[in-house]
Amino acid sequence: MQYPEFQFLSSQASQVAHSCYAFGIFEKNHTTPEASHLTDEPLYHDVLLPLIKESQFTGQQGTIATANGLPTVGKVILVGLGKQEAIGEEAIRQAAGMVYNACIKLYSPSVVVHFNTLLNDTTHLKAFAEGILLAAYVDERFKSQKDTKTTYLKKVYLLNAKADDQTIQLAQKIATGVNLARDLVNAPPNYATPSMLAQTATELAQKHHLALNILEKEDCAKLGMGAYLSVTQGSNAVPKFIHLCYKPKSLDAQSPFQKIALIGKGVTFDSGGLNLKIGNAQIELMKCDMAGAAAVLGAAEAIGAIQPRKEVHFIIPATENMINGSATKPGDVVTASNGKKIEIDNTDAEGRLILADALVYAEKLGVDAMVDLATLTGAMVTALGTHMSGIFGTDPQLTNSLMAASPRTGEKIWQMPLEASYFKSMQSIVADMRNTGSKKGAGSITAALFLKEFVEKTAWAHLDIAGTAWKEQPWCYHHAGATGFGVRLLVDWLLNS
Ligand code: BES
Ligand code: MN
Ligand code: ZN
Repeated sequence: MQYPEFQFLSSQASQVAHSCYAFGIFEKNHTTPEASHLTDEPLYHDVLLPLIKESQFTGQQGTIATANGLPTVGKVILVGLGKQEAIGEEAIRQAAGMVYNACIKLYSPSVVVHFNTLLNDTTHLKAFAEGILLAAYVDERFKSQKDTKTTYLKKVYLLNAKADDQTIQLAQKIATGVNLARDLVNAPPNYATPSMLAQTATELAQKHHLALNILEKEDCAKLGMGAYLSVTQGSNAVPKFIHLCYKPKSLDAQSPFQKIALIGKGVTFDSGGLNLKIGNAQIELMKCDMAGAAAVLGAAEAIGAIQPRKEVHFIIPATENMINGSATKPGDVVTASNGKKIEIDNTDAEGRLILADALVYAEKLGVDAMVDLATLTGAMVTALGTHMSGIFGTDPQLTNSLMAASPRTGEKIWQMPLEASYFKSMQSIVADMRNTGSKKGAGSITAALFLKEFVEKTAWAHLDIAGTAWKEQPWCYHHAGATGFGVRLLVDWLLNS
């Protein structure tokens, strides 16, 4: 990725050879902006006020106005920050993304950013840099014509912000992780195979000196991973069970969770199996079914670079869910690595099967907490839509600390109940349980309850990211396509709890 560079400016913007100014404007009430913080700005009377008037700019969050070819200054961007008292990291991240996109539209190679004194605050500065770096994502790997316009912005000058290169570097490490996750999800399923995920893990291990263990099919069979292997058996792609580990020199003794396992669903293509995805099941979108795995690898990229004082295991059961003569049949009974016998009622409920063995594997590592991320159910999209992920958990301290990280990162999560009574609908006549529940709703809850059967005593949280992993339309700092959801949340949580 070609990221723009950041440079801190202590005094007036006019000192640099500029081509564009971006002003953050607060909202005063619903009809007028609050621009009094800009009255010292030399451009205030001649440029800003007329532009605010002419564009009827209110400063409302999510709004933007641009002008090109103005006398003396050239290009100006006004970006709404919303009410001053409500300002936070996510509003700034979004505004930064909008500034980036406006600069591209205006063909501006540099921009002078004037957000009052907001960027003096390290958390705000980090959010701003993240917004720029996430918006700067481009994916032209599968295009024969490269678009030069997409990397046009080279330099971001930050006015009124105290020089803090460390915070910029932290934002860069996080954005690199998010953008890796996006690359993995966006890659077509004939490229992003289980072997390619294993190759990516191998590269991360080399880059950041992480320990790596890739379990082949035979290794998984020895461990009795019958649930995971049942999903792999209908595919010609070689399955890979990936285990990366970051170990610090010393652990943070203050933290309740010092040794952590992050587990990501890595179904590189979900055809549904014999319960083939037909009708409006959107089989053509199912390359995104490894978004949990991508988030875990993205987190590994960031954690390897940031090096916090936590031991982190990154675990990915990777496979395709396909159909051939060996494919699992509805009605088959398989045995997971904890000995539980599962009747496979529906081959399209495959994510929970591969995660079952991954959870058993992770718990054996003796970690303090396990967090899994999975594009697990369409029911999650029905419940919370595409802006929020559901979180399920057995340990309030773990769930609460993840929920506390959420607003800082802008990755929204909402707590869902592990309503035990629904488990009855997963009873099987022939085996210990079925892999599906009642057809009458609560599909994301029954999926989570299924996973819970494979956790004994370790604190565990499950994020169902089926709705948030992918965007149909570009939005602020997201392009259309993969969002990289989960990387920022995981990293923030690991650094702050
Ligand atoms: N990968 C899907 C879930 C999904 C749906 C992800 C939409 C992203 C967007 C999962 O494997 C699946 O097929 N779930 C089934 C479960 C059902 C058969 C119990 C579903 O949600 O329909
Ligand atoms: Mn499925
Ligand atoms: Zn799936």
